[in-house]
Amino acid sequence: MSARPLIDAWAEALYGTHGFYRQSDGPAGHFATAGQGVPGVGELFASAVLALADRVGATNILEVGAGRGELLTLLHATRPSMRLTGVDVVARPSTLPAGIGWVVSPGGRSLPALPVDAQTLVVANEWLDVVPCPVAQWDGALWRFVLSSGALGAVLSGPEEDWRRRWWPVDEPVPGDRVEIGLPRDQAYQALCAVASAVLAIDYGHLRDDRPVAGTLIGYRDGVATTPCFDGSTDITAHVAMDSLGAATLLTQRDALEQLGIRVPNPSLDLARTAPADYLKGLARRTAWAFLREPAGLGGFWWALSCPLAEPGTPPR
Ligand SMILES: C[S@@+](CC[C@H](N)C(=O)[O-])C[C@H]1O[C@@H](n2cnc3c(N)ncnc32)[C@H](O)[C@@H]1O
Repeated sequence: MSARPLIDAWAEALYGTHGFYRQSDGPAGHFATAGQGVPGVGELFASAVLALADRVGATNILEVGAGRGELLTLLHATRPSMRLTGVDVVARPSTLPAGIGWVVSPGGRSLPALPVDAQTLVVANEWLDVVPCPVAQWDGALWRFVLSSGALGAVLSGPEEDWRRRWWPVDEPVPGDRVEIGLPRDQAYQALCAVASAVLAIDYGHLRDDRPVAGTLIGYRDGVATTPCFDGSTDITAHVAMDSLGAATLLTQRDALEQLGIRVPNPSLDLARTAPADYLKGLARRTAWAFLREPAGLGGFWWALSCPLAEPGTPPR
């Protein structure tokens, strides 16, 4: 395959006709997230999303990048009265409980018309990291776009160079240093904010003071990190520059859980004697909570919220 702009090859590899995300096993076939794949974690994550919906006065939730509806299914099980809609690049999963809406999307930064109203909370968990973006590399004298072959192409210029200067300045670059230009992610997030008053994007990422100099572009297949392949056989992802999105509130998942009051105490030791099965359930829930809060793992993920995280009891919008 001839070398193309990396962003085009990336988009084709994930969302083209034979793209990675169109395959039947879905994201859960290759990696776990807060919403699926780790027993007990998805349920707690769903309760955090519902707590946020209550804080911002949302009466319905729309999930962009809903995978096969795993989080929506948990939200529905926890609160059947909440109106739910999923958006992803595949047809409505047959396993989705009746009553949950579904919209098919082109993928990447492109979105269809979304059925949102003034009471919608839009949630996008690990969506922005798979919105393809340009990658630039320092060649010793200039920043150049990286091509899908890994070779370097044109000199970085225009809005991409403006974004790099503002959001990813590098004082003394050395050849091989990389910059992942977050502009398409910013635009994707802003497109959601343009239609909904409460948007939450959750992802792994970085802030201006702590950018990863070597870049983060990587592939995933069957639960294992691998070299990204541009043929649809691997996921392709890069961490998100979270501070350039334009969120009103930016906090870690750990802090978000704390502020939303999602706390799971250790079960009492008495319970181990009187009701051992309940004790074990309590321990499992506590373990799931610790997993979701782990600073080096899911707890370090960023919540980019388009509105303030209101105090409990604040009147709804
Ligand atoms: C990394 S997976 C995360 C899935 C799910 N949110 C979770 O946490 O398990 C990213 C998902 O975003 C979907 N996606 C990518 N671009 C999209 C778009 N423009 N509209 C809707 N879904 C999109 C992909 O198809 C994929 O299912």
